[in-house]
Amino acid sequence: MTASPAEAARKRNRKALEGGEHPLVMFFRGFLKHPVMVGSIIPSSGKLIDKMLSRVDWANTKLFVEYGPGVGTFCGHILERMAPDATLIAIDTNPDFISYLRRRITDSRFVAVEGSAADVREIIAHHGFEHADYVLSGLPFSTLPAGIGPKIAAETANALRVGGAFLVYQFSPKVRDFLDPEFERIDHDVELWNIPPAQLYWAWKD
Ligand SMILES: C[S@@+](CC[C@H](N)C(=O)[O-])C[C@H]1O[C@@H](n2cnc3c(N)ncnc32)[C@H](O)[C@@H]1O
Repeated sequence: MTASPAEAARKRNRKALEGGEHPLVMFFRGFLKHPVMVGSIIPSSGKLIDKMLSRVDWANTKLFVEYGPGVGTFCGHILERMAPDATLIAIDTNPDFISYLRRRITDSRFVAVEGSAADVREIIAHHGFEHADYVLSGLPFSTLPAGIGPKIAAETANALRVGGAFLVYQFSPKVRDFLDPEFERIDHDVELWNIPPAQLYWAWKD
């Protein structure tokens, strides 16, 4: 007898858990190894993802960049919304997360890069792009090494096309200290259905 889709999904999850490949296991392991760089104990909620991505103009997106994808909590949702000829470049400093993403996501529009968000311009140029339409960040800005937060904000402002935006979700509103010097127009919202509740920012390049 063939298993129902729900049963098959449960079986896949059980297998992934046993093999240590389940996203939650991978994420928690990443947190234990690099607590300061990962900055969170569990991935973002579905409600946070939907709200954060709701302001993206997908029809005019050729390049979407994600900083700190971790185990890819956002990646599938971005790929689902993206046009067939668009590209998603996901940049993470953690080699374990990058090789996990390369194994799990086989979509030809997806590129996983082991590197730092601070080098975004060099990374997108290396993949043939002058500008990004949107950049999404799940980086723990407040725990990044000194000087890295301001550098990432400045490099991102330079990497974006006019009309594009830097999408940032954070647990602390202190991230505004990094965004304010680079972006004149910043929209803000809060998502309570997340552990912990998150601050959401859309910093527009006008
Ligand atoms: C809180 S986790 C984000 C997880 C995921 N985006 C989510 O929503 O569940 C932060 C991620 O940022 C990565 N990271 C930290 N510093 C970075 C940097 N300078 N450039 C790129 N990624 C970085 C960490 O390795 C980690 O995967």
